[in-house]
Amino acid sequence: MNAPLFSPLALRGVTVDNRIAVGPMCQYSAVDGDAGDWHLMHLGQFATSGAGLVITESAHVEPIGRITHGCLGLYSDANENALGRVVQFCRANGSAKLGVQLSHAGRKGSTRLPWEGRAAPLTVDAWETIGCSGLPRAEGWPRPTPLDDSGMNRVRQAHVDAVVRASRIGFDLVELVMAHGYLLHEFLSPLSNHRDDSCGGDLDGRMRFPLSVFAAMRDIWPDDKPMGVRVSATDWIDGSWTPEDTIVLARSLKDLGCDYIAVSSRGLSLDQDIPLGEGHQVPLASKIRAASGLPVMAMGMIHDPNHANRVIANGDADMIALARAFLSDPHWPWHAAAVLGQEVDYPPQYLRGYRSGWLRERRAHSSQDRDQP
Ligand SMILES: Cc1cc2nc3c(=O)[nH]c(=O)nc-3n(C[C@H](O)[C@H](O)[C@H](O)COP(=O)(O)O)c2cc1C
Repeated sequence: MNAPLFSPLALRGVTVDNRIAVGPMCQYSAVDGDAGDWHLMHLGQFATSGAGLVITESAHVEPIGRITHGCLGLYSDANENALGRVVQFCRANGSAKLGVQLSHAGRKGSTRLPWEGRAAPLTVDAWETIGCSGLPRAEGWPRPTPLDDSGMNRVRQAHVDAVVRASRIGFDLVELVMAHGYLLHEFLSPLSNHRDDSCGGDLDGRMRFPLSVFAAMRDIWPDDKPMGVRVSATDWIDGSWTPEDTIVLARSLKDLGCDYIAVSSRGLSLDQDIPLGEGHQVPLASKIRAASGLPVMAMGMIHDPNHANRVIANGDADMIALARAFLSDPHWPWHAAAVLGQEVDYPPQYLRGYRSGWLRERRAHSSQDRDQP
């Protein structure tokens, strides 16, 4: 019998083989937004890992929407071709369904590569950032230009254009970022949204622009393919964005045809106070699932296969998105399958690494390993 973690999940016309997703992970290794060989290796290894779903790092919808000069884009023909090459490789060699995450960094853009000074604003080759209001991310950060009506139309259209490109590439799923302090999260949170027009003020006002972006994207994404949203379910700051606000947002997204919520948290302000621990965001995912009726992805410090399996079995979440666990163990699903007594896809080139075959060979003192190169 399938362990819950290894049972399939249908989202519209797309069936994911199991509940293990590789979460989006920025690699800061693109050139002018183009994916290269690093992305081929990075996503290629995960597509052949036995995970049911692989989601690309944030692909940004316009050049000034990138976090760094090394961030992935999906705003040009060259970006589309480069990412298309990676997707073709993943399709030809792996079994995972493939999702693309779309984002606009807003006032968190124009920063150095993390390994050159974590999240510090660029001083050379910097660009002017945009934001929901004119509030800098933190002290010492540049002041973003607040979006006016025409700017909001441009940014919405950039998201739509990126969805058209994602559709041409042949992705199975799109995930929109309303999390981690990036542009759409800035609109949602009362801490960063100080607008006095119809896109500010109360919760309805603050949700207006992000919801309009989602609706425009959903409109042109194929009906049989799922589209989800990554949220920060709380800012972890008193008086800011809360799980209850997230539930209202999730219900509104559901009405617009959203298929799942990926439940993260944090990222808006450096003043956040996060109670870190194994699976610390799972209770948020569970709460949003129960109140919205939408499938959710749980994430954050989940490493142990038994724990991941319990989260699914308990009905706290529908999928688990792992990030750092995959960096340290790109074959995490193989090892999780071994722990839980399940089968998982192996590429034929790696079949000799299959655990039971390997064990049998060892037990039988097979000479095969000596005979074959
Ligand atoms: C190297 C790295 C890059 C990341 N890039 C993204 C990203 O592009 N988009 C996103 O939504 N989250 C991103 N995240 C957050 C992860 O997807 C994940 O939610 C977070 O790391 C917590 O999960 P974990 O404990 O399994 O790593 C990134 C995390 C890491 C470690």
